Amino acid sequence: MNRWSAIRARNLSYESRRIFTRSFIASAATPKLPQRSPLAFAFDIDGVLLQGPNVLPEARRALEFLEGKNPLNMKIPYILMTNGGGVTEAERCTKLSRQLEVDILPSQLVQAHTILRKLKHKYADKPVLILGGKLNKGREVAESYGFKKAYTTLDLLAWDESIWPFHELTDTEKAATKTEDFSKVPFEAIIVIHDPRDWALDVQVSVDILRSRNKICREPYKPDSELGNDPENNVELIFCNPDLLWKSDYPNVRFGQGAFKEALQTVLKATTGREYPSTQYGKPHTPTYKFAADVLRARIEELEGPPHNSLPSIFMVGDNPASDIAGANGASWKSILVHTGVYDPTQGPPAHRPTVEAKDVEAAVHWAFKEVTQYPL
Ligand code: G3P
Ligand code: MG
Repeated sequence: MNRWSAIRARNLSYESRRIFTRSFIASAATPKLPQRSPLAFAFDIDGVLLQGPNVLPEARRALEFLEGKNPLNMKIPYILMTNGGGVTEAERCTKLSRQLEVDILPSQLVQAHTILRKLKHKYADKPVLILGGKLNKGREVAESYGFKKAYTTLDLLAWDESIWPFHELTDTEKAATKTEDFSKVPFEAIIVIHDPRDWALDVQVSVDILRSRNKICREPYKPDSELGNDPENNVELIFCNPDLLWKSDYPNVRFGQGAFKEALQTVLKATTGREYPSTQYGKPHTPTYKFAADVLRARIEELEGPPHNSLPSIFMVGDNPASDIAGANGASWKSILVHTGVYDPTQGPPAHRPTVEAKDVEAAVHWAFKEVTQYPL
């Protein structure tokens, strides 16, 4: 079987085949390398590159390989695509670059809430309640997307401590609050940007606003039968990360933002008999993968110049079958499931089948590179 039929047999995309043939013919004459990478990557963060604050050593080697230390001697495009967040992309990139010892640019990062940039036209001048993130960080994120009236539940607690009598504000928290007369603020949306720090406070205040007659938190509740069924006039409830579980540095998996969503809806149901309609972003959902594909396309253009007519083979490397693998499969990307995070191979086959499994991110990158280029490593 010659190299061309081997390529055909592997169902590589037309684009990869075309790029490769060109480099193959070229290398036969002069060992000129392809101008455009035949493959690109989207990396999950928690459970793939990091475990809590700890960097997985193979992560640095894998990114070094993509930064040019590979047989093609070329930069292979990649983005980081996480259901995490809680700080601005710029702040996260500074930290990730330090941790991973490679420059990660904001143009390479998709956090759970990055897609909210697309809602600026809707909420730039409207009061929105931001849940999650440490102290003021959630507000900073919302403001970085152009939301000018972003408030937190700590702001509401500072305005009226009786709104939730079981949380006494610390001085640090007080310093992070914004003063406002919330008896005059109708909230147009509640946006869960990151994992809430006080689930109870956030559930109470969210329920107050969702049940309120006019979106103002201290107002009397409307009849339960009206809860959430006025699409034109509802307070929009947005969740950015559906993960019920995630892998940190703790031995067992931890509850994620998805567990907070369950808690809020369960309390609402217990008190009103109804759940509240909500918008869900984050992996595995299609809007997030479409958004990430655009970010990856822009990154490829940043590296390789004017637009491609189609994307090279995209490999998603993730640790969570329910978010990373399900989403990548849904986007017709290739998916690689690693064993350094949520998925535990001793617990049986994954709920969503990946293209392949790999022990860690470095093995995943090498597999994909060999798969597309057939360069022995
Ligand atoms: O809170 C973050 C967690 O849900 C998962 O993050 O990077 O694995 O998508 P990640
Ligand atoms: Mg993960």
